[in-house]
Amino acid sequence: MSENIEAGSRSGGDIEAGSRSGGDIEAWWSRALFYQVYPRSFYDSNGDGFGDLDGVTAKMGYIASLGVDAIWLNPVMVSPMADNGYDVADPRDVDPLFGGIGALDRLTDAAHAAGIKVTMDLVPNHTSSAHPWFQAALAAGPGSDARERYIFRDGVGPGGTQPPNNWVSIFGGPAWSRIDEADGNPGQWYLHLFDAEQPDLNWDNPEVFEDLEKTLRFWLERGIDGFRIDVAHGMAKPPGLPDMAAIKAEVLLADIDDDPRFNNDGVHDIHRQIRQVFDDYANAVAIGEVWVYDNEQFAQYLRPDELHLAFNFRLLRAEFDAEDIRGAIENSLTAAHIADATPSWTLANHDVDRAPTRYGGGDAGLDRAKAMTMAMLALPGAVFIYNGEELGLPNVDLPDEALRDPVWERSGHTRRGRDASRIPVPWDGDAPPFGFSDNPDTWLPLPADWAALTVEKQDDDPASALAFYRRAIELRCRRGEFEGSTIEWLDSPADTIAFRRDGGLVCVLNAGTRAIALPDGDVLLASAELIDGELPPDAAAWLV
Ligand code: NOJ
Repeated sequence: MSENIEAGSRSGGDIEAGSRSGGDIEAWWSRALFYQVYPRSFYDSNGDGFGDLDGVTAKMGYIASLGVDAIWLNPVMVSPMADNGYDVADPRDVDPLFGGIGALDRLTDAAHAAGIKVTMDLVPNHTSSAHPWFQAALAAGPGSDARERYIFRDGVGPGGTQPPNNWVSIFGGPAWSRIDEADGNPGQWYLHLFDAEQPDLNWDNPEVFEDLEKTLRFWLERGIDGFRIDVAHGMAKPPGLPDMAAIKAEVLLADIDDDPRFNNDGVHDIHRQIRQVFDDYANAVAIGEVWVYDNEQFAQYLRPDELHLAFNFRLLRAEFDAEDIRGAIENSLTAAHIADATPSWTLANHDVDRAPTRYGGGDAGLDRAKAMTMAMLALPGAVFIYNGEELGLPNVDLPDEALRDPVWERSGHTRRGRDASRIPVPWDGDAPPFGFSDNPDTWLPLPADWAALTVEKQDDDPASALAFYRRAIELRCRRGEFEGSTIEWLDSPADTIAFRRDGGLVCVLNAGTRAIALPDGDVLLASAELIDGELPPDAAAWLV
């Protein structure tokens, strides 16, 4: 038995997403599709077992074949790689692991020749402990100017043996480490919200912004088209560094309401400073990683003098449940609308479980991931897809000895970390490492059962996940029905959602357990085969 969707009848008001773009001409990023490349897992051009930038360049034809507008490269700056590059020792050079700065120039040239923009990760909240500033701070001693670039404090209690407050690291354990002073005696503590090799910078010190400005201009002058700003809600710390109300061993950044470590008012002055630099470069985009769920507070990051785009993680966090999905969409649109800004959508990145795994794994998990992708691509705004998402890659369960994420050690082996969603891309062949590298010893192992998931296998298969993603992306790019900045909710049966874009596209998603009839119109794309004209469970359809 099927249920019906009444196209044209409205439930809830129209929701409009803003489209401010600084002028009459719409900015390139306002409906761009960004492809996130995790460089160490993309393609290894030199056989060391790690992906590198010449590897990305070698695969530019593949990236272009997906129809993406821009690449977001995870950090490639010089780093000891304690957190895979989010521990930066020299922000104005590229690490030799990735091929040095020449390799980035080659990549940028190749991307631009293919009409693809290049954005990089920027890490302003912390540096590596190997950064010359931190090394100087260790050598200079308490009270020195060098220590003022970071957050050093004396410990509390007899002999200063207790950390200055009760903050915990996002990766587990305390957010403070104690150092030995030059005389070998135990001395001050320094703050690190992440790994101990990632000391937090003191953003009250003007030198910190001055240096970031140099970094921004260095890359923007070199032709980089923008930045994804790491922990963009984290740089400002509250005066006096008050204790946290509750010590939570939380899962990464996902759950930070009422947390003094993040989202402090001072962060907005920092974004205003950063934005002034961006404004000197006409088309450069600033995209913030903002784990904030209050719509008003989230919108503050998108004010006209702050970020252009901010990741709203609500859709990524939604269960495969109609009410949850609709709530995530409504809230994300509302948050962007408050600031008259462009919404951004994502279902995956290098910090979270792969979408097919999150949605239950197996065939159903992949079906749901494809349905969610259609809902995401049907929405107004910018979209981010994480490499391998287009292949339908799931998480991989790794043995303990293969784990590389610092979360594993810092949590005392209680949290396995994020390696499961960072496995290298399987390109071709029938056995690991599936053409990712000539070296069988890759930085994370690829599982043998990915033989059917390689790009080679999926390339010519019209029923593959890859073919589906290419088709969906192409339609989103080409069809006028995806135009406009509003959606109108349509009445639909329980456990389903349906909305219409002002360009005319209708998107229906079935999160229920029964097939549903589709509204009138031609089916442009469906994520699963229709059954007697009806949309099966775990599927979505676009109609015009
Ligand atoms: C967020 C990044 O996405 C994550 O991978 C990293 O570990 C932390 N920020 C710390 O830089």
